[in-house]
Amino acid sequence: MARTLITSALPYINGVKHLGNLVGSQLPADVYARFLRARGHEVMFICATDEHGTPAELAAAKAGEPVADYCARMWKVQKDLADGFRLSFDHFGRSSSERNHRLTQHFAARLHEAGLIEEVWERQVYSIADGRFLPDRYIEGTCPNCGYERARGDQCENCTKQLDPTDLINPRSAISGSTDLEVRETKHLYLRQSLMRDRLREWINSKTDWPVLTTSIAHKWLDDGEGLQDRGITRDLDWGIPVRRGTEPWPGMEGKVFYVWFDAPIEYIAATAEWADAHGLDDSAWERWWRTDRGAEDVRYVQFMGKDNVPFHTLSFPATILGSGEPWKLVDYIKSFNYLNYDGGKFSTSQGRGVFMDQALEILPADYWRWWLIANVPESSDANFTWESFQAGVNKDLADVLGNFVSRVTKFCRSRFGEAVPEAGEYGPEEAAVTESLAARLAALTAQLEAIELRKAAAELRGIWAEGNEYLQRAAPWAEFRTDPDRAAAVIRFALNLMRLYGILSRPFIPDASDTILRALGAGDTDWPEDVAAELQKLRPGHGFTTPDLLFAKLDDARTAELAARFAGG
Ligand code: MF3
Ligand code: ZN
Repeated sequence: MARTLITSALPYINGVKHLGNLVGSQLPADVYARFLRARGHEVMFICATDEHGTPAELAAAKAGEPVADYCARMWKVQKDLADGFRLSFDHFGRSSSERNHRLTQHFAARLHEAGLIEEVWERQVYSIADGRFLPDRYIEGTCPNCGYERARGDQCENCTKQLDPTDLINPRSAISGSTDLEVRETKHLYLRQSLMRDRLREWINSKTDWPVLTTSIAHKWLDDGEGLQDRGITRDLDWGIPVRRGTEPWPGMEGKVFYVWFDAPIEYIAATAEWADAHGLDDSAWERWWRTDRGAEDVRYVQFMGKDNVPFHTLSFPATILGSGEPWKLVDYIKSFNYLNYDGGKFSTSQGRGVFMDQALEILPADYWRWWLIANVPESSDANFTWESFQAGVNKDLADVLGNFVSRVTKFCRSRFGEAVPEAGEYGPEEAAVTESLAARLAALTAQLEAIELRKAAAELRGIWAEGNEYLQRAAPWAEFRTDPDRAAAVIRFALNLMRLYGILSRPFIPDASDTILRALGAGDTDWPEDVAAELQKLRPGHGFTTPDLLFAKLDDARTAELAARFAGG
């Protein structure tokens, strides 16, 4: 059986994520995981909260809570929201787990043994007003690369350049705003990524099938060398994974922790170990996904992330893996995304602009959001959320096309033939034509999902739904019923089978509505179909069903306007 390991970029612990975060990694990863499971793959789908570093410290301070308590509470909030959106992780872990502590310290020891760690006296920004060193994100200033005035000390949000805090022009403290900063000396560990340039280049060059967005970012950082400068992997913080050389103390590094971007991707592995622990399994259960000497050589590993994460996953994390000299699984395919904007501007966590996951679920059930987000996923360029577009997606695609089809077919059947698949009549040329067309569409949909071309896949699925409505319109069983009831029976039998097919094909996108459809039909086996003609015979004459309640409610103009006003921000 084919085995696929899927990871979604780990959401920062610092608060509820917005729809832009959701569509930039977790949701598309879920669609892909669900598709592969339906295809009979063995899937391991992993995510976790990214809990260390300054974002966590800042958020906990703002909430007035000890950082460990804050993280435990926010993990549960994020886990419940993931469940609410039906994200089908096999495990949703925490980067602060015991497993990640051990594994991160293990990797550091291996890198040290391989001569890839350097101890460096670093000049670091100290804030006199705040009485502490200011790491990364506690410092804001102007990006030396693009001039963006609110660049952070670790990365410029505007041009994605990875920065060192001392690179910033006009730096100020993000805690107090103070510009009374000075540079002091403190010892840190550096990962000598520059020594791995050739190995990384060779590896990236071998990935000829990666999306352009991924390879263009990877090459940009590889070629101008900036992404492969030696990187500090330790920080002066309390919260984080203590710097140790495996289980041994690291002389001179007492009181320091690993940099969040060093330990976070290692959590992909550690979370799989957490999964094994949670199921009472031994290490071989997770190692067969991650160790090529212990069964992972035939695993395909696919990562999902926003474009700002690409340098860390094409250069930094592979440097950790390759540098360890141990046979850990490297990623096979990186699917990356552009940004989703909110009404022409940025979603903003700090300014509360846009729709956040908790708010979304209070407004409408998960499927409504899942559908719009995947149909508009920012694959080839940035995408834009507007309430009008969302309303159109809900009303046209979900209510008028899919929902209406299901309701017309089941209600008509119930009133004329009862709640069982009608027996009379035969499929004729109309049905043959639809079957042939759907066979081509299914092949396209399957190929698009295999290629993780999700926007195209959603468009194809929409076309498959529309084809059912058009067929029903042409075949007009309500008219036929008066003159040729056997013909009407055959049409309805075909349409009920189409409805079953829709339940199966829609499941990766809108799992709740699909389950409603499939449950109503008592559909049985729901594997991804290969042969449409055979599939449209599966509900046999006499097979009972129940008529489902309204599948999708429309979003009316007044409500849409009210929501637009409520989320306008400001
Ligand atoms: N928390 C990071 C972000 O939201 C992503 C971390 S992905 C991992 O941008 F590689 F570190 F796991
Ligand atoms: Zn910049």
